Amino acid sequence: MGRLSFLIKWHQLHKPLKFLILLLVLFSSERDVVLGSGSDRSALLELKDSISDPYGVLTSWNLNNRDHCLWAGVLSMPFNELSGYIPVEIWGMEKLEVLDLEGNLISGSLPSQFKGLKILKVLNLGFNEIFGGMPSSLLNCMGLQILNLAGNQVNGSIPRFIGEFRNLRGLYLSFNLLGGSIPGDVWDNCGKLEHLELAGNFFTGSIPKSLGKCRGLKTLLLNNFGGAIPSDLGNCTMLSVLVLSNLWDPLPNISSFRSDISTEKLALIADEYNLYEGTIPAEITSLSSLRMVWAPRATLDGKLPDSWGFCANLEMLNLAQNYYSGKVSEGLATARNCIFLT
Ligand SMILES: *[C@@H]1O[C@H](CO)[C@@H](O)[C@H](O)[C@H]1NC(C)=O
Ligand SMILES: *[C@@H]1O[C@H](CO)[C@@H](O)[C@H](O)[C@H]1NC(C)=O
Ligand SMILES: *[C@@H]1O[C@H](CO)[C@@H](O)[C@H](O)[C@H]1NC(C)=O
Repeated sequence: MGRLSFLIKWHQLHKPLKFLILLLVLFSSERDVVLGSGSDRSALLELKDSISDPYGVLTSWNLNNRDHCLWAGVLSMPFNELSGYIPVEIWGMEKLEVLDLEGNLISGSLPSQFKGLKILKVLNLGFNEIFGGMPSSLLNCMGLQILNLAGNQVNGSIPRFIGEFRNLRGLYLSFNLLGGSIPGDVWDNCGKLEHLELAGNFFTGSIPKSLGKCRGLKTLLLNNFGGAIPSDLGNCTMLSVLVLSNLWDPLPNISSFRSDISTEKLALIADEYNLYEGTIPAEITSLSSLRMVWAPRATLDGKLPDSWGFCANLEMLNLAQNYYSGKVSEGLATARNCIFLT
């Protein structure tokens, strides 16, 4: 099927649309919008009725366009001013592969039951106003590769079913109201996981060793943890960005990201405490893939690690306000690319 023939960047067209959804629909070469058959099709037609469409982009959605082999597999309109709830029809869609509504004002909770989205690969609802827990209904989307709920008010704890998404490449849950500890026994199948972002929550406990099983991990963002930093993370030989504390966090700069970020969240960041024990193990600091290690005010102590993977790629190292003693290692002197060292 020749889907994904071309895409319209809806955010370039945007003006405040009152409710819902811009659809990044796939057009055939004749520019007929081609809807899926059956329920997806009627779901989209129902949607069309409830959408304010000042540019008439959805005009060609009509009952005369039936039974093409193309369908709307991508629904994407990040960084608009869409508000309201995700219409319930969306959760029944069968052929949707990408649902991307990042950076809007979508509210509501994720439905505890839905039937569709069985082939969804990307669920991106980051930086909206989603609240409530992560329901197990998400398991419908067994093929998820990207799950981004960062910057919402998602609460509860990280569910164990996360371990069942074997194709997950990115799990972005930073800046929510999540608590509890990170389950240790769900990382057996995380071989494809590249980005795990959990900073800016209320987690407790220590970093599970078992994260070392995620051999492909490139980005790990955590904070508010304690205990020893497991040397097993050194098994993640691709690890490039390691954030252990969120103070003076340049990645992301959430105050510029969203001006309306809640004061609660900013307070959360200001009140952050990290109570790690010991130092960052040499198994981690010697990784030559490291580009950034960010761990200010993290109660790290002992001798400053002296193996820094030849520092070939190290660009940022922030170990400010810890309890390190001893000399700055000679290894660091070779950090030629380091632009921020404190
Ligand atoms: C999560 O948030 C929902 C909705 O705001 C609330 O009803 C529920 O009690 C919260 N659950 C927890 C565990 O805090
Ligand atoms: C990391 O590698 C070491 C040495 O090969 C091994 O003993 C350890 O079990 C590994 N850890 C994980 C979590 O895979
Ligand atoms: C983050 O964004 C705010 C607001 O735009 C800006 O004032 C601040 O300097 C930025 N911080 C960094 C570290 O870039």
